[in-house]
Amino acid sequence: MERVLVTRALPDDWLEPLAAAGLELDVIEQDEAPSDELLRSRAPGCAALLVMLGDRVDAALLDAAGAQLRAVATMSVGVDHIELAACRARGVAVANTPDVLTDATADLAMALLLALARRLAEGEALLRSGAWSGWGPQQLLGRDLAAARVLIIGPGRIGSAFARRVVAFGARVAYHGRRRRPELEAELGAHFEAELDTALTRAEVLSLHAPLTEATHHLLDARRLRLLPRGALLVNTARGPLVDEAALVEALRDGHLAGAGLDVFEREPAVHPGLLTLPNVVLLPHLGSATQGTRRAMADLATGAINAVLRGASPENLISS
Ligand code: DGY
Repeated sequence: MERVLVTRALPDDWLEPLAAAGLELDVIEQDEAPSDELLRSRAPGCAALLVMLGDRVDAALLDAAGAQLRAVATMSVGVDHIELAACRARGVAVANTPDVLTDATADLAMALLLALARRLAEGEALLRSGAWSGWGPQQLLGRDLAAARVLIIGPGRIGSAFARRVVAFGARVAYHGRRRRPELEAELGAHFEAELDTALTRAEVLSLHAPLTEATHHLLDARRLRLLPRGALLVNTARGPLVDEAALVEALRDGHLAGAGLDVFEREPAVHPGLLTLPNVVLLPHLGSATQGTRRAMADLATGAINAVLRGASPENLISS
């Protein structure tokens, strides 16, 4: 019987497709990411790994698993935790979960933007503190999204879905990415920005949707954060290391940025202590895809890919590069 290592506790019905295919399941029954050592101790002899973001899939893990390993499926669209070249070199197929989490993640980015623009966290804190003394004409004045200039970095599936949402709120969208998206321009009147630095100088709101690669690590460093106009808002639902978190804290602290809505952090689950004390940030624990329907669909895609690879097929959600 071939064995699949599942790196977190998951509901039985999510794993049912693997059991139904006659695979033996070895589940690490915990919610938090297992240590590298624990992963390496459980991987030997597995035919497939069902992993999550936060589980490092590197050459050492692949070698510990052994030459019979044929598939790694991750319940995430991001694959920055997986050494793709090491998988490729060992003939291990890698699958992720695109499309099914697009709406949930774009919804969350929109929720963060609305929370920032209308100062929801500050309002709630005021109310809960007991210090609210009633309606005031200048109290917690926020920002209008109508006509706001929103820049999207990474206009892929999630970035495009977010663009549709902000256009529905009346905002104007510009985007920067590796290639031009004529369909986005035709559908939403989106404006292509070829030069990132120039694009930043024009953005009132910046939302990040790019994958994390060597090239995008600290894409927003201290210099680029300062190119944003004073008072800009930043939303990040992509990956924390796209932003230099220490520089972000400084830019928020001295008021260069008016606020940041962050679902991802540079060293998850650690959060820069400076962020925790700032009133003008909304911080979430990486909830982008966290809806019941979405997570179930992600599990279905991941288990489906493992079953397909183990029977010699090539599912659509294989990472090709
Ligand atoms: C992903 O799938 O990469 C997301 O970050 C999960 O929410």
